[in-house]
Amino acid sequence: MRILLTGAGGQIGRDLIAELVRRAPAADPPTIVATDLRPPPAAVTADDPPGVSWRGLDVVDEAATRALIADVRPDLVFHLAAILSAKGETEPQLAYAVNQTGTWNVLEACRATGVPRLVFTSSIAVYGPGLPDPTPDDVPLHPTTMYGATKAAGELLCEYYTRRGWVDCRGVRFPGLISAGLPGGGSSDYALFMYVDGVRRGAYEAFCRADTRIPLMYMPDGVRALAEIAEAPRDRLRRCIYNLAGFSPRADEIAASVGRAVPGVAITYAPEPLRQAILDSWPSALDDRAAATDWGWRARFDLDAMTDDLVPRIRALLARTGAAGA
Ligand code: SER
Repeated sequence: MRILLTGAGGQIGRDLIAELVRRAPAADPPTIVATDLRPPPAAVTADDPPGVSWRGLDVVDEAATRALIADVRPDLVFHLAAILSAKGETEPQLAYAVNQTGTWNVLEACRATGVPRLVFTSSIAVYGPGLPDPTPDDVPLHPTTMYGATKAAGELLCEYYTRRGWVDCRGVRFPGLISAGLPGGGSSDYALFMYVDGVRRGAYEAFCRADTRIPLMYMPDGVRALAEIAEAPRDRLRRCIYNLAGFSPRADEIAASVGRAVPGVAITYAPEPLRQAILDSWPSALDDRAAATDWGWRARFDLDAMTDDLVPRIRALLARTGAAGA
């Protein structure tokens, strides 16, 4: 199986690569081409499993995207490249180019090359305020950010390409994802930094209110969801894009969970208007029963299980990189 990832240098890519390699039969390991604007340095990718290679790709560049996908001829594409919500509000033109034009370019390149299957990463950010709680899959979409608008449009394009029989697209709406790897420009990053800075510095000043509540998901569940929806038989899927619920703690409940694993950690709150407004526009919980029914989705981690797994991982990472106490 030949698999191509866009935006593989972002928050999801390297965890997804590890999950794809772990799931594959030992006798038939996948060939994985990981692409990003600037592939990570060799020091970062040196431990990649055999069969993984990195190539530079700007998905905004239509000709380069077509040429690379035609050259690799993947059986499966994971389209991860995106500018996240907060960064997208400071650079909306860039967010449109990467998220909208980039998605179009990747879909067109897949169609032209005959790539059979593509997995799209959508987000809670497709939703706007005032929706039922928990929010089901099918409600009016009125996103308040460029990121959300482009993700909603990307979902529709995926449905269209699937309906036309051009590319079998399927995807998930992720909650805010939490892992030991640092994200860039997301509004849900406060949750991740409670862990990373909580371990690294013993303190973190969150850019949101203590009562902020959005859906979150631990990365091992997130990458397993991507692998499982990629593997799901088409005739089991009654829709193209599925909510994933994860769990929905208040910010101060996350802080309390971190405090259990990192005694004495000091987490304070200094809400920043832009990111707080984005967070307040998102649902506090999602309904993911369609994913459970159609492709057997079930999250394994709740808040405390994530804390117990993640804190030792961050400690190990900091010890390896010598950044402890930095
Ligand atoms: N984590 C993303 C963000 O905060 C949401 O999908 O932008």
